[in-house]
Amino acid sequence: MTKIIGFVNQKGGVGKTTSAVNMAAGFAVTENRTLLVDLDPQTNATSGVENILKGRKNNSAYSTYDMLINNISVKDIITKTKLSFLDVIPSSHDLVGAEIELVGLMAREYKLKNALDGVVDHYEFVLIDCPPSLGLLTLNALAFSDSVLIPIQCEYYALEGLSQLLQTIRLVQRNLNKKLDIEGVLITMYDRRLNLSKQVEEEVRRYFTDKTFKTIIHRNVRLGEAPGFGKPILLYEANSRGARDYLSLVEEILTRGK
Ligand SMILES: Nc1ncnc2c1ncn2[C@@H]1O[C@H](COP(=O)(O)OP(=O)(O)OP(=O)(O)O)[C@@H](O)[C@H]1O
Ligand SMILES: [Mg+2]
Repeated sequence: MTKIIGFVNQKGGVGKTTSAVNMAAGFAVTENRTLLVDLDPQTNATSGVENILKGRKNNSAYSTYDMLINNISVKDIITKTKLSFLDVIPSSHDLVGAEIELVGLMAREYKLKNALDGVVDHYEFVLIDCPPSLGLLTLNALAFSDSVLIPIQCEYYALEGLSQLLQTIRLVQRNLNKKLDIEGVLITMYDRRLNLSKQVEEEVRRYFTDKTFKTIIHRNVRLGEAPGFGKPILLYEANSRGARDYLSLVEEILTRGK
C-alpha cells in the first residue's frame, strides 16, 4: 500500500523541507521504496539531495514544472539516487510561474494527482515538500495526499496561521479529497534549554492531543549543515541527534497501528 504524505504549513522556515528530505532518506534506508517530490519553486528539497542524485547533469533537466504544466511524462522526470530505495522528482525555479499558469487549466487542483497516479503504486511512501503558502501548488498536494504532516517550529507565534491551515484542510476534505487525513503535527527545532520550547510543546500537545507525534525534532546544527552538502543527514552525519530524531520519527510512523 502506498502512503502519500504532504508536508504543509504556510508559515515559512518551520522545517517542512528538512523533514521531507530526512524522512524520505529514513524510509529509504529502512528499505521502503520512497519518492520525494519537490513542489516548491525555492527548490530546497532538490538542493538537499543534490549530491546523491544520479544522472542529473544540469539544471535544464525536467522538473515538477514540466510535469504540471507541459505534461511531460513523470517517468522522464523521476531521478534515481545513491540510495536504491529513494527516487526524487526535482523542482526548478520556473515552478513559481505554475501558481499562476495553473489557474487557467482544466482540473487545475488535480494536475499533480493526474501526473503521478500511474507511478505511485511502485512506492511505499510518496513525500511531497510544499511551498510556504496555501496556493494552487499546495492545493495540488492536498488533493492528492492521503495525509498531511504539519511541522511546527518552537518559536513565538508557533500556532499562528494554523486555524487557516485546518480550515483549508477541511475545505479540501469536503470538495477535493475525502480521504485526506492529518498524519501528525511535528514539533521541530526544539531546544531543551529554552522555556519557550517547553511552552510550545505543551500548547501543541494540548491543541492536537492525539495528533502530535511522540517524536520531537531537536535543534541540531548538523541538520542545518547537511543541505549545504546536498545530502540528507543520514549520509552526512549518521550519529547526530538530527539523524536519530528523524529515524525515530520514521520508526514511529512505520510501527503505528501494528
Ligand atoms: N531541527 C533543526 N535544527 C537546526 N536547523 C534546522 C532544523 N530544522 C530546520 N533547520 C534549518 O532551518 C531552516 C528552515 O528549515 P526548512 O527549510 O526545513 O523549513 P521550511 O518550512 O521548508 O521553509 P520554507 O517555508 O521556506 O520552505 C533551514 O535553514 C534549515 O536548515
Ligand atoms: Mg521548504
